[in-house]
Amino acid sequence: MLLFKRHADLRKYLNQIKLAGQKIGFVPTMGALHDGHLSLIKMAKKNRELVVCSIFVNPTQFNEQKDLETYPRTPHKDIRMLEMVGCDVLFMPNTSEVYPEETETSLNLDLGMLDKVMEGAFRPGHFDGVAQVVKRLLDLVQPHSLYMGQKDFQQWTIINFMIQELGIPVQLIRCPIIREPEGLAMSSRNARLSEEEKIKALAIFETLKLSKDWIQKMPYQDVEKEAMKNLNLPGLKPEYFKIVNKNTLLPPSESTPFENLIACTAVWVGRVRLIDNLFLGE
Ligand code: PAF
Repeated sequence: MLLFKRHADLRKYLNQIKLAGQKIGFVPTMGALHDGHLSLIKMAKKNRELVVCSIFVNPTQFNEQKDLETYPRTPHKDIRMLEMVGCDVLFMPNTSEVYPEETETSLNLDLGMLDKVMEGAFRPGHFDGVAQVVKRLLDLVQPHSLYMGQKDFQQWTIINFMIQELGIPVQLIRCPIIREPEGLAMSSRNARLSEEEKIKALAIFETLKLSKDWIQKMPYQDVEKEAMKNLNLPGLKPEYFKIVNKNTLLPPSESTPFENLIACTAVWVGRVRLIDNLFLGE
């Protein structure tokens, strides 16, 4: 695996790759990698693309300075994991490479309601930071395909919107959620859960699955209420459980097709906030 820290060097290398007719798949990450991230790399490899993974802990998407400082950083382990799955290129820029003073990097994109609901309601400005960094990384890497996970469904939807709105020539691929054998969605934050908390957290996926049954029998508002009750267990604090239209992230209307319904939730398990989701019509 080649490691680049400067985008000029990365570009030089990728230009040669493109000239040779090879397609480039890009997986942006903030490091602290787990099997969920690796599944994105594997999917890009399966699609026979040269895989570029980036590790950059983006300061503009953190609401609290403390969260940025304490975000897990495990570069040596990450590099070993990437090598194990055959990642071709790792891009590890520093902040001045991504946000050079002389370059205007702010993104004036109106995300409408997409960043006002669910995660956006609890983390104001977070998605502006995510869209800004993904746009910037796409400018630097210029890949053919961009691989992002369904686990952060709202993030995926916002990046999809940005790509359409700005006409960025990249194919966005949504990769399925990777779960622990018992059902917990993989996340860098799981490392902060105790064994007991991991067991409690199973209620999240269980409730999502139940909501898939309930939606056959009751209105979506009742499903949301029932789910919140179901998650209200000792050690858990549900923040929201919403059933929305996957395209707008807004509550469904009478005419929303069943296949467009997705249940999204955020739950505190002790001091760790987890998110998860499930398509209800699949
Ligand atoms: O999902 C993440 O890890 C980050 O939000 C991303 C997409 C790498 C942007 O910093």
